[in-house]
Amino acid sequence: MYKILFFLLIPIITISQEISEPSLKKHSEFPIGTSIRFVEFMKDKKLKKLQKHHFDSYTAGNDMKMYQIVTREGNYNWARVDSIINYTTLNNQRLFGHTLIWHSATPKWVEKKAMSNPQWLEKFMKEYINKYVGRYKGKVDGWDVVNEGLNTKGSGFREESIWYKTMGKKYIEKAFKYAHKADPKAKLFYNDFNIERDTLKFNSMMKMIEDFLERDVPISGIGFQMHIRMDIPNEIIEYTLKRAASTGLQIHLSEVDIIFNSHDDSKGGGIQTYNNLTTEMLNEQAIKYEELVNIYKKTVPKSQQYGITFWGFNDRDTWINRFFKIKDWPCIYDEKLNPKPAFYGFLNGLKN
Ligand code: G3I
Repeated sequence: MYKILFFLLIPIITISQEISEPSLKKHSEFPIGTSIRFVEFMKDKKLKKLQKHHFDSYTAGNDMKMYQIVTREGNYNWARVDSIINYTTLNNQRLFGHTLIWHSATPKWVEKKAMSNPQWLEKFMKEYINKYVGRYKGKVDGWDVVNEGLNTKGSGFREESIWYKTMGKKYIEKAFKYAHKADPKAKLFYNDFNIERDTLKFNSMMKMIEDFLERDVPISGIGFQMHIRMDIPNEIIEYTLKRAASTGLQIHLSEVDIIFNSHDDSKGGGIQTYNNLTTEMLNEQAIKYEELVNIYKKTVPKSQQYGITFWGFNDRDTWINRFFKIKDWPCIYDEKLNPKPAFYGFLNGLKN
């Protein structure tokens, strides 16, 4: 009898032995997520254990973007999203759909066809969203319907986007309307970066959001990507989050990481100021993560807390170093998948 019991206990002991740090999701009043690259993820035992241990929300880093779904006209690839849905369903995790319409994830064949036949683009958008959101109706909790529709810096729309050039700024609300028609229960977000600190960009977003609310455009929430630096003042983050929350919409910190160095927002545009990571930097980063959670809980009413999602939770896989060509340490776990002081700072914020 005892022998059977012991063998039953082995798997539980093994998993719990490997992850001693407390579970983030078990200490949080709102969903906690991270972006995942599914193929690499499924091959990495430790990454999978950590993801199940800490997170109850899943965002696909790239797998659900347009260039992955419709590689050529009329050819929709659902297999990987189907696999992701199997995984999140099996592990009782919320799936967040990133992202339906984004200039940077629009396949070249779509851009090319739109340039020669502008009227075609709206028909394509309607078909794409109807097929995609419709296929996963009730299985994808929310979508970044439009990502980064505003200028990188300052006010105004990203007018160089093929979507803006072809359909004008109305492409944004049309995407929301098509998504809502395809799945009326899905939560629909506008997602962007630097809106927590660039007040001109933030004001442009708020003007758009308030116009949408005025005209009953079906929008449910705002995604603050929250790719921040250590030196971004908490006061400005608190101000923008508070104003955004005053709309009554869901607020999602959708792509959180906190870097030490800086960049000019262009690919390879990193500015390497800090070449080494010191204990003092690690401890300061822990405080910054704790303060970010405190600000979120203080400024966003519980009913509007859609959650906090990391854009990768470890320094080994972070997009920052690849994209900006710098060495940085933005995440709560280190390159060896061990928790940093930032992990405990974030956890303290959840517990506060
Ligand atoms: O996987 C292939 C690899 O096989 C190939 O050798 C290599 C050659 O370029 O490309 C690899 O794919 C790259 C993919 O990341 C995986 O690393 C794509 O080229 C590259 O474009 C893609 O970049 C992603 C980027 O969005 C553009 O889609 C980043 O991983 C991803 O972190 C980044 O995420 C964005 C959010 O979606 C929106 N907010 C900003 C955030 C950071 O840019």
